[in-house]
Amino acid sequence: MRRVNKDERTRIGFTLNGRAVSGDAESRMLLTDFLRYVIGATGTHVGCEHGVCGCCTVLIDDIAVRGCLTLAVQAEGRTVTTVESLAAPDGTLNPLQLAFQQHHALQCGFCTPGILMSFTDYLARNPHPTEDEIRDVLSGHLCRCTGYAGIVAAVLAASGGSTKQPSVVSAKAGTQYGASRAGVTGSPLSRG
Ligand code: FES
Ligand code: FES
Repeated sequence: MRRVNKDERTRIGFTLNGRAVSGDAESRMLLTDFLRYVIGATGTHVGCEHGVCGCCTVLIDDIAVRGCLTLAVQAEGRTVTTVESLAAPDGTLNPLQLAFQQHHALQCGFCTPGILMSFTDYLARNPHPTEDEIRDVLSGHLCRCTGYAGIVAAVLAASGGSTKQPSVVSAKAGTQYGASRAGVTGSPLSRG
């Protein structure tokens, strides 16, 4: 195996939200730092930087991963999907984002990009989860504003389910989930 100097920079490239991107990264650079500081895609947030809070979650080849536990060089040649992909190019929110808006599933919004990406992955594999399944996925995320009830209600609404906490759910619940992954938007639900 070739030895890599810690300061050596490597040219890496991958597909980000349907667009080819490339840049130079030290071998130890985290994917989150590469996205934010090299590419300028600041929708992906960084909290704990050691895999606990989940706010850095992105998709690599459609699987949710912690961006802070992934080296940028590991994304070489892969497909990376971030929160910027969720809304339509004109800023129209996708059904999951709309459900978050309708169910007040965010306060400061710092944790929101990671949670949206985790459920983008999860709902693609399990489109109609139970409340317990949603809570299980959500257990991988920390929301310092503690808005968990609203998040559960939003995911249930987006997936056509209903919650055990009817006071949290609006009459608009029932939107079916179907994420669009094209484009970049200026919505607070889709960027940092
Ligand atoms: Fe990655 Fe907290 S910043 S899990
Ligand atoms: Fe503030 Fe979750 S909405 S940290």
